[in-house]
Amino acid sequence: MDTLKIREKFASLYGSGGAMYTSPGRINIIGEHTDYNGGFVLPGAIDKAMYCEIKPNGTKKIRAFALDVNESCEFGLEEADKPTKQWACYIFGMCREMANKGKTVLGFDTVFAGDVPLGAGMSSSAALESCFGYALNDLYNLGFSRMEIALMGQATEHNYVGIKCGIMDQFASCHGKEGYLMKLDCRSLEFEYVPFNPKGYRVVLINTCVEHNLAAGGEYNKRRQSCENVVAEIAKMHPEVKLLRDANMDMLKAVKGKVSAVDYMRAEFVVGEVQRLLDACAAMEKDDYETVGKKMYETHEGLSKKYEVSCPELDFLNDMAKECGVTGSRVMGGGFGGCTINLVKTELYDAFIKKTTEAYEKKFNIKPKVYDVVIKNGAAKL
Ligand code: GLA
Repeated sequence: MDTLKIREKFASLYGSGGAMYTSPGRINIIGEHTDYNGGFVLPGAIDKAMYCEIKPNGTKKIRAFALDVNESCEFGLEEADKPTKQWACYIFGMCREMANKGKTVLGFDTVFAGDVPLGAGMSSSAALESCFGYALNDLYNLGFSRMEIALMGQATEHNYVGIKCGIMDQFASCHGKEGYLMKLDCRSLEFEYVPFNPKGYRVVLINTCVEHNLAAGGEYNKRRQSCENVVAEIAKMHPEVKLLRDANMDMLKAVKGKVSAVDYMRAEFVVGEVQRLLDACAAMEKDDYETVGKKMYETHEGLSKKYEVSCPELDFLNDMAKECGVTGSRVMGGGFGGCTINLVKTELYDAFIKKTTEAYEKKFNIKPKVYDVVIKNGAAKL
């Protein structure tokens, strides 16, 4: 993205320039809704990011300007100063989480913008949190690690936005590495970089342009609650089970009838998904992308029918992928709208994109957006 317009706005609002930071959005190959269940995820940071120019202003106030929506917001740093605008809460939350860890963050001026599409399942909010987390850590020399910044981003969602999300998005935004996916164990927070170069395939996102808002309706939090209900029941017999990751299908079957049918169905998806990720990783090691693709379709089926976080538009894109012979396809991220991620043989790519985008537009009267996936680095100073 061209950061010149950020610099121009910053200069016009606050005078001389500040420092520029960035943090990206993410994709996830497989492992959805597993993070808050202690399972694995397989994300990668992408070439779409948030950018902020920032400069301490010598006061105890933050003056922020969101260039993409042309809105400004001014707020203090105390708990009682919580702004009402959601975008400002991401910045405020990061400052508060740092203060709660005993660090001193003082007032600053900032202009930010980005090219991570909002509500598309690519983690624009995590990119924003990580961008400011990384910037403040660097500006004020706070000494937080990337993982600590990610955890404060997650805490911001929990405490200042109201989404009880897992760690995947902020983790990926902070730790991304060009050309690599990251296999993260969300229970231990150990991770490894996995080279990603599926020869003969392309990875492409298709955006339904149905925007999700995970906070609205609380559907995301309800999914998490279902998982916790099932864990509580299983733990009566198996006290070692603290998260769904620790459970297996037999343990789950043993509590059928003791938990609600809906909770059971949600947990069935998660237990299956934890295993699917492991199977997909094993297949990737052997360059067996046919198996990876099969697992992606299974994930979609589960997210749609059991976890119920899909929508007609996403299901349509998934059906089109199947019809076009695409190797793997599924809804990506939290769901309820946003993108499908598709693993497609290079020679099928053009026909798939043409046929699918035309059919989608005809059916829903919405022009879908297409993004080729490019795996890039995580948070950085520019
Ligand atoms: C959202 C959340 C993540 C994760 C995904 C689903 O992106 O922020 O923590 O739970 O949904 O995998």
